[in-house]
Amino acid sequence: MNDLFLRACRREPVERTPVWFMRQAGRYQPEYRALRERHGILEICRTPELAAQVTTLPVERLGVDAAILFSDIMVPVAAMGVDLRIEDGVGPVIDSPVRGGDDVARLRTLEPEDDVPFVLEAVRMLAKDLDVPLIGFSGAPFTLASYLIEGEPSREFARTKSFMWAEREAWRALMTVLADSVLAYLRAQVEAGASAVQLFDSWVGTLSPDEYAVHVAPYSARILQGLADLEVPRIHFGVGTGELLQAMRDAGAEVIGVDWRVRLDRAWSRVGDGVAVQGNLDPAAVLAPWDVVERSAKQVLAYAGGRPGHVFNLGHGVLPATEPDALRRLVDLVHEETAS
Ligand code: CP3
Repeated sequence: MNDLFLRACRREPVERTPVWFMRQAGRYQPEYRALRERHGILEICRTPELAAQVTTLPVERLGVDAAILFSDIMVPVAAMGVDLRIEDGVGPVIDSPVRGGDDVARLRTLEPEDDVPFVLEAVRMLAKDLDVPLIGFSGAPFTLASYLIEGEPSREFARTKSFMWAEREAWRALMTVLADSVLAYLRAQVEAGASAVQLFDSWVGTLSPDEYAVHVAPYSARILQGLADLEVPRIHFGVGTGELLQAMRDAGAEVIGVDWRVRLDRAWSRVGDGVAVQGNLDPAAVLAPWDVVERSAKQVLAYAGGRPGHVFNLGHGVLPATEPDALRRLVDLVHEETAS
């Protein structure tokens, strides 16, 4: 079993820096595109054999040091009774979004064994078959709430913020039912065999640090602290979160994910040496000529400076236009550059 990734998460010494990529299974892969011609994305997520097959693809093709369960952040939300679909090239869409307390009251707290048995079955199959650690994941309450309230992907999150400020009671109820569901969901994934978990608060960078502290941090903290006794590494990630990094660390993760808008050494000095850091190559850099990929990756490694606890990753998901070979070369480059 290759446990480089788990050791790096715990800031133990490693022979080479582990690497994996957010969205390492997806449309940039011809094998995935071929599968998607026959199956919808939610169908793949709900069929353990298919989800396990897609999860394994990048481990075989790229030589990454960890697998991330193939699913989507909206899978448990659908299982909580929300009618949603994932539109090609758009993302999650909900025709009747959450607009007030009555809509929140209709959401059921997720009971993973009954509501998403197919996810747990995929985790069990993968934990048995993989020779790298399996990362379980969930969307975080804020990011899930933003899809529920906006009804579609958003840039400004104006409806989400209005709801947060104007419907205080309903916001608290919504964040509570989401936090309870996410905690149960992540615990069930670990109990089924996931060796680490990542909490994706992808869109929380839209908030100021003060608003984050009041309206979001307590719920994310409840989830992360509620996982503590399971003793698996907890990764807390968001995009555009340079100013939120300390607060995200305080919520209780041992690994902080950073995008590419903040230099890795500066991110690390914000969160302190007590935690590991994951990131932070610009996903678009992998589309550039190889010399740019190489220079950018080496720059990330230089900013990591050989400290224990660096997990190499992109600052966000692999872009669909990425060449699989470029990712494969990038994995090799990180391994060669950091081999001791
Ligand atoms: O390899 C992996 O990282 C695991 C698979 C994974 C998917 N979604 C599959 C997927 C993961 C970890 C996610 C999480 C997810 N989904 C997040 C958090 C991570 C992030 O990127 O910030 C978010 C915000 C979503 C919501 C979502 N679902 C978006 C924005 C999209 C893309 C829309 C598009 O077409 O551009 C989806 C659909 C989705 N989820 C795809 C994949 C591979 C797209 C391809 C398809 O439809 O098959």
